[in-house]
Amino acid sequence: MFTLEHVSKRYGETTAVARLSHTFTTGQTTALIGPSGCGKSTLLRLCLGLVHTDTGRVLFGDSILAPKTVNAIRHRVGYVIQDGGLFPHLTVLQNAALLPGRLGWARDRIRARAEGLARLVQLDTTHLARYPLELSGGQRQRVGLIRALMTDPDVLLMDEPLGALDPMIRAELQSQLVAMFRSLGKTVILVTHDIGEAGLFAQEILLMKSGGIVQKGSLKDLVRTPVDGFVRAFINAQRSPLESLRDRQE
Ligand SMILES: Nc1ncnc2c1ncn2[C@@H]1O[C@H](COP(=O)(O)OP(=O)(O)OP(=O)(O)O)[C@@H](O)[C@H]1O
Ligand SMILES: [Mg+2]
Repeated sequence: MFTLEHVSKRYGETTAVARLSHTFTTGQTTALIGPSGCGKSTLLRLCLGLVHTDTGRVLFGDSILAPKTVNAIRHRVGYVIQDGGLFPHLTVLQNAALLPGRLGWARDRIRARAEGLARLVQLDTTHLARYPLELSGGQRQRVGLIRALMTDPDVLLMDEPLGALDPMIRAELQSQLVAMFRSLGKTVILVTHDIGEAGLFAQEILLMKSGGIVQKGSLKDLVRTPVDGFVRAFINAQRSPLESLRDRQE
């Protein structure tokens, strides 16, 4: 669906993405994982045309991403940005209604869809009338998901969509979303800090460092055959506190 060919992006002296090439497989979930600042969010923004490449190119299907084609792509791609990206002067429902409204949906249809998704993400439907600042961080994050799912897009780009949720809601939403993406054959690019979450969602994981891909593969590949000490250290650092506690007690 998305193809990156030798893509680089710099911000002043900082190289955020460095000559990166990858084709994201249609109909499956790919997880981007790696240390803070390694370029994960920048990579998603490049795919959406929110920032532009310095070198190389991004393709969506057969078309090269360019200012002229960006709008058509954004209508087909749901996007959850890292900090929610909600408009503060619009209510939850108005935020969710932006794209469907532009596509000509009737108000009743928009409301019914938003209410259905609110139930899916376990957000009280009365919260649809609130402004983003009247919600908790975890609630805002679920509104970001509602907004991205409104038009049921085939492609979803999600930047740490579950990062602010408490463990129980997070676990429930993870399994609901995984089931939804699998059964509907969605193409998903998911940024996460949690390698367990990456393994749960993604058929392919891209482990990034300093703007490049260090290793691609399934969770099993990364755990069993890390290509270098960085991959090994990254995976070991993600062992759960409970697991480490168990090890110490044995
Ligand atoms: N608008 C910007 N202006 C200047 N530098 C930027 C900008 N956006 C990102 N950067 C820099 O580019 C690098 C990559 O940033 P990016 O946001 O892609 O990282 P990330 O992998 O998403 O990190 P995190 O896990 O913390 O979200 C970082 O060094 C960051 O400071
Ligand atoms: Mg980021």
